[in-house]
Amino acid sequence: MIQSTFELLTGIVKSRSGGIIGPDQHYMLETRLAPLLKREALRDLEALAARLKAPRGEALAQEMTELLTTNESSFFRDGKPFEHLRALLPALHAARPAGQPMRIWSAACSTGQEAYSIAIILAELGEADPGFRSRRVEILGTDITTAVLDRARAGIFTQFEVQRGLPIRTLMKRFIQEEGRWRVRLEVAAPCRFEKANLMGELRGLGRFDVIFCRNVLIYFDVPTKARVLRGMAQQMATDGALFLGAAETAIGITNLLAPRGAERGVYGLVEPQRLSA
Ligand SMILES: C[S@@+](CC[C@H](N)C(=O)[O-])C[C@H]1O[C@@H](n2cnc3c(N)ncnc32)[C@H](O)[C@@H]1O
Repeated sequence: MIQSTFELLTGIVKSRSGGIIGPDQHYMLETRLAPLLKREALRDLEALAARLKAPRGEALAQEMTELLTTNESSFFRDGKPFEHLRALLPALHAARPAGQPMRIWSAACSTGQEAYSIAIILAELGEADPGFRSRRVEILGTDITTAVLDRARAGIFTQFEVQRGLPIRTLMKRFIQEEGRWRVRLEVAAPCRFEKANLMGELRGLGRFDVIFCRNVLIYFDVPTKARVLRGMAQQMATDGALFLGAAETAIGITNLLAPRGAERGVYGLVEPQRLSA
């Protein structure tokens, strides 16, 4: 691939998703875009670049961007954040008036394991505490990639996927086996909704959240993009809300709107909520 093609393709991806593709990732373009080239009867990436500049380029550019996202996920990924969430939710519940729904956002939810892991915790908390059970909870999963959202909505996972992170007892209790695959049970699926949303876009329409999980997506962004996304999230957080970032991600040194919440690594709260409305 010639350098100008690489720059054009990766520039489109960055402007649409924020994702940075480095010079050492040439191979990723070749392999991930091969099916698109085949379907469109394009000889190579140069031909794709030419097509992207032509009419109808818009839809193709979006499809290419989505194909170049990394959608790796697993249930209860990294463990600890979910334990922390389990400890945090009763306090958030107690601090809210009865009848006010609790809202949790799995931003960049990929195939839904994160949202469903949260829903499993909620189901467990509700079974242990009738007070908590009466709280309406909404879990919104969003992602830029249509294909992963379709999978998340289906709520059906392979044997390999459920073996990564799900304790066997949880699997047996919260999933139904169907033709070698595993479907989340109703109590896990019911609070979850999945919607397409770009973290680079306007986030206000999504509403206010008590908890935000934004994990393993900021790593693909440059610092100005991370700062922009974190600011957008801070604006959508309840004043006592919590933002969970991934193990390789931080808000420190990127935004002054968020600060670590307690000793737990990767969990942030608003520093000065009043500054957000300024
Ligand atoms: C590695 S997955 C992380 C999934 C999950 N949060 C986890 O930690 O297991 C990253 C996801 O971010 C999504 N993504 C990338 N750029 C995005 C953007 N600008 N807006 C929304 N989602 C984006 C990708 O489509 C992908 O599904």
